[in-house]
Amino acid sequence: MYRTHTCGELSIDHAGQAVTLSGWVQRSRDLGGMTFIDLRDRYGVTQLVFNMDVRPELCQQARHLGREYVLSVRGVVAERSNKNSRISTGDIEIVVESFVVLNKAALPPFTIEDDTDGGDDLRMKYRYLDLRRSVVRKNLELRHRLAQEVRRYLDEQQFLEVETPVLMKSTPEGARDFVVPSRMNPGQFYALPQSPQTFKQILMVAGFDRYFQIVKCFRDEDLRADRQPEFTQIDCEMSFVEQEDILQTFEGLIRHLFLKVRGVTFAEPFRRMSFAEAMSTYGNDKPDLRFDMKIRDLSALVRGRGFGAFDQAEFIGAVVAPGCADYTRKQLDELTEWVKRPQIGASGLVFVRCQADGSHKSSVDKFYSGEDLSVWAQTCGAVPGDLILVLAGMRRKTLPQLSELRLEMGSRLGLRDKNVFVPLWVVDFPLLEWSEEDQRFYAMHHPFTAPKSEDIALLDTNPGAVRANAYDCVVNGVELGGGSIRIHDDQLQKKMFHTLGFTPEQAEYQFGFLMNAFRFGAPPHGGIAFGFDRLVSMLAGLDSIRDVIAFPKNNSGRDVMIDSPSYISEDQLKELRIKTDFRPEKID
Ligand code: AMO
Repeated sequence: MYRTHTCGELSIDHAGQAVTLSGWVQRSRDLGGMTFIDLRDRYGVTQLVFNMDVRPELCQQARHLGREYVLSVRGVVAERSNKNSRISTGDIEIVVESFVVLNKAALPPFTIEDDTDGGDDLRMKYRYLDLRRSVVRKNLELRHRLAQEVRRYLDEQQFLEVETPVLMKSTPEGARDFVVPSRMNPGQFYALPQSPQTFKQILMVAGFDRYFQIVKCFRDEDLRADRQPEFTQIDCEMSFVEQEDILQTFEGLIRHLFLKVRGVTFAEPFRRMSFAEAMSTYGNDKPDLRFDMKIRDLSALVRGRGFGAFDQAEFIGAVVAPGCADYTRKQLDELTEWVKRPQIGASGLVFVRCQADGSHKSSVDKFYSGEDLSVWAQTCGAVPGDLILVLAGMRRKTLPQLSELRLEMGSRLGLRDKNVFVPLWVVDFPLLEWSEEDQRFYAMHHPFTAPKSEDIALLDTNPGAVRANAYDCVVNGVELGGGSIRIHDDQLQKKMFHTLGFTPEQAEYQFGFLMNAFRFGAPPHGGIAFGFDRLVSMLAGLDSIRDVIAFPKNNSGRDVMIDSPSYISEDQLKELRIKTDFRPEKID
């Protein structure tokens, strides 16, 4: 028997018992007469003790055990004289009577401690060692618990978990597809699902009524801290529902998860905010409502005074940084450089200091009098001690820049506490988004989203103004989930494809299966999908979803542990009838 107990369960109640434990050598300390080893497994750490006076031979052997050796030890539980209240087994130690080395270990390339010396790349290459660290393992334990709670809640609400294919057909959702060649159908490709969107709608046609799936989705898009090329969704769909039914059901899910996993209760119903309000007030369709700092429109107030940057701007907006009037020249220069970085792209930053005596001092004093500035301050709701930060330019660019500035100031002022959660529903998204580059409309959510019935007539006259029955669930500035009520009428779906620039033949080729299904009695339906990784990382208080994924990809989409993607053999290529120019000479 390898073990009678785990390394995390023995306590003073077990004193005197003979036990067997197995695990890894976390660290070893040699104090002359005594050798101590911390033995670790998934459940915890237990101290082993070897006494030179009592068992000199065993103690000698123990001194040669290296870090991460795998051991099985037999011994007796004893009360420790030097207790360690930081670990659950800290009251006891095992007086070892015998041990077996189950496996030796090479010296790990970084320390397997919470505070490791290993950099990101190294830890990803040796992810199995990284995963031994309890901080990383805890994230995955949280992920597991969250998945259990998702299943528990949705099962109670009559949702059926149904698996959908991974080898499927392209359903565009705004990203590129990952594709898989078919050997049996030369020249043809499967696409990996960007989401199971069409399948879950078909399950509604099939009468399943309530579907969910914790499911892998694949999107070939630029990666960021909250994006992975393969990620997991809690994907859901319901029949005979309106938007309100969905918002209620899934507000319930989010409440359940925050309560069960973090002990957080939301006293109020989730706030609702239209897309238009979110954009004009926060410059962002996923506002972080943990702090106020709304964007103020100064456009009408500041033009026509000879200051070119404002006179020529379509939009001039401000945010007020509370208590920052004493920012030094150096700090303001640094902030100006910050907004000018290519990632933000502002052309410059104007500031107004609201001084303690009620006067104002700005970087544009040449053009605006003290009185002018005090009107600005009033409009912005700024009080003495505040700093007004103003950006100007095209509205569609300046609002997002102000949003970034707002978030940055919120972070600098410590207003984005990770232990505070402010959820909201963003609703009334536009149905379509105009692309200047391609001179055509794209679906803002996806092509199956229903327009608001009162806006359908606008599809012919002013498609850009049509609002959708679409909604996002946002917490602390993170889009946790998004969904919509679907079109369930094949004629309206055809019209939508037409508006999106599909010819009838293209629509038929790509989505004929869905429109065909709609001919056989599709119920009204709608759904939502939550980013499972984002939810876990938020509940774990982390900034990147990579930390809650067992085997994540790096920013170039590579798994550096298994070194993938990789070249395949000439034979495989031949079999798949694929020719490629990108092939190093010597790999076969
Ligand atoms: P959407 O595209 O909004 O909707 O995706 C739903 C949620 O999935 C998460 N998410 C991601 N997480 C990590 N990495 C990514 N690359 C990534 N992309 C998206 C986000 C997002 O809110 N089929 C629709 C849902 C529906 O209409 O029911 C869909 O996929 O948290």
